[in-house]
Amino acid sequence: MFPDGRSVGEKVFKTGGFEKTFADAQQICTQAGGQLASPRSAAENEAVRQLASAHNKAAYLSMTDARTEGTFIYPTGEPLVYSNWGPGEPNNDGNAEHCVEIYTNGKWNDKNCGEQRLVICEF
Ligand code: GLC
Ligand code: CA
Repeated sequence: MFPDGRSVGEKVFKTGGFEKTFADAQQICTQAGGQLASPRSAAENEAVRQLASAHNKAAYLSMTDARTEGTFIYPTGEPLVYSNWGPGEPNNDGNAEHCVEIYTNGKWNDKNCGEQRLVICEF
């Protein structure tokens, strides 16, 4: 299901090349024993960027600010230790952007969780 991968240290990022909504993407990664991509350093972000770029698709990251607007957290509840927001982001456009996508250039944008984005899991 996840043919394409990049390793950084102990972590491996894998994508199946398909797009899903955030809820479906999250379930797919946890079902597979991992979680959605959660880059915690520039090196990890670069690995995720490479996968997104190889598929020419923006991808979901794991983090959300659904609990407290403006405070993005990992699935564990821990606040961000690294970020790579694009200019002006996160902007909570339409008061409805609680997920994070990573563009093929590696920059992050907060985005509506109902959009379909590339699924990249980490293990
Ligand atoms: C534009 C904005 C971005 C927003 C998106 C919504 O790209 O720059 O902040 O998330 O539109 O589709
Ligand atoms: Ca945004």
